[in-house]
Amino acid sequence: MKASTIAYLLAPLGAMASPCKHRPSSSTAVVPSAPASASVSASASASASATAVPTPSDVPATTTAATSAAPSATPSKAPAGSGIDALFKAKGKQYFGTSADSGSLSISQLEKLVESDFGELTPENSMKWDAIEPRQGQFSFTGSDALVKYAQEHDKIVRGHTLLWYQQLPQWVQSITDKDELTKVIQNHISKVVGRYKGQVKAWDVVNEIFNEDGTLRDMVFTQVLGEDFVRIAFEAARAADPEAKLYINEYHLESASGTKVTGLNNYVKKWLAAGIPIDGIGLQGHLGGSNPSAAEMQAGMELLSKSGVTELAITELDILNAPVDEYVKVFEACLAIEMCVGITTWGVSDANSWLPNDNPLLFDHQYQEKPAYKAVVELLSK
Ligand code: XIL
Repeated sequence: MKASTIAYLLAPLGAMASPCKHRPSSSTAVVPSAPASASVSASASASASATAVPTPSDVPATTTAATSAAPSATPSKAPAGSGIDALFKAKGKQYFGTSADSGSLSISQLEKLVESDFGELTPENSMKWDAIEPRQGQFSFTGSDALVKYAQEHDKIVRGHTLLWYQQLPQWVQSITDKDELTKVIQNHISKVVGRYKGQVKAWDVVNEIFNEDGTLRDMVFTQVLGEDFVRIAFEAARAADPEAKLYINEYHLESASGTKVTGLNNYVKKWLAAGIPIDGIGLQGHLGGSNPSAAEMQAGMELLSKSGVTELAITELDILNAPVDEYVKVFEACLAIEMCVGITTWGVSDANSWLPNDNPLLFDHQYQEKPAYKAVVELLSK
């Protein structure tokens, strides 16, 4: 992993993340599709912190204190059965995971926690379109290869994130206006990326954040040029490239039983499944707290979605403002209660590396120590 890690860390920051923080729902309603800067600032405008620099996991190691630690040569293995992943599996779930990439995995304290508590990895940024195909036809798999290699060497499942998203989407894609051209570009991107990791990525977030808060489809290059047909094009391309991988729609603000977004998405999924589009699962991102939903209705929301016709649900990007104990426990209880819920992924390991640097939303604190919510989840799963 080391040589490729270094190469990844040296990648130009411009090719990396654009901040996107889901706060007041009004800011995430209708977002103009192009140019990229417009869509980013529209979704970010509600929050001053959304204009912040990339999160620590995107920053070269030398620029943050936290990342200056040497990579751990010999990751310590926690005793089997002690971490959350093992406890969750003992309850019948497939995994408990986290987002990560080479940058965060090179922090030895963080990597030890990945070893002890997490059984699944989602690339935080390295599989996004701007990282993999920044220029048309020029693919760069350095970061994603490193993540997948780490996962294989450490016996972790990988969820692929994400094939089609209006953010972290290169300008050359956003500029396309021709139907046939955009169709071919989507098909080529998806078949190259999914094909490369065939048999190695368990599930893909094929489309990400394609809905408005009112349950209609987002105004972005994909809908402008192709209408809703981009969904069929994307899912069919992914299915063709890896027939075994589970294919997901991933979305935020689904943690409600009656909201316009969850009901709108539910109706679209039913319609698309009836039309033969190969959708296997729905991912609830689970960015909770503050002006986002609380965990109160998460189980009811999952109940509703479990009847849409998909075979899997997953909580894909969990983080909760200030990590309240009862909220974290509710999320785990919801996944335990819904048989179709296969696993939970937190969006990061420790508050030191969260994409929401001021929210302290994760299970481990800035010093990589267990927080009360961590202990409460372990207690719940140990019952
Ligand atoms: C975030 C990453 O964590 C940041 O490093 C990056 O700057 C912006 O994207 N929803 C998603 C994720 O689907 O891909 C986002 O990840 C967080 C919101």
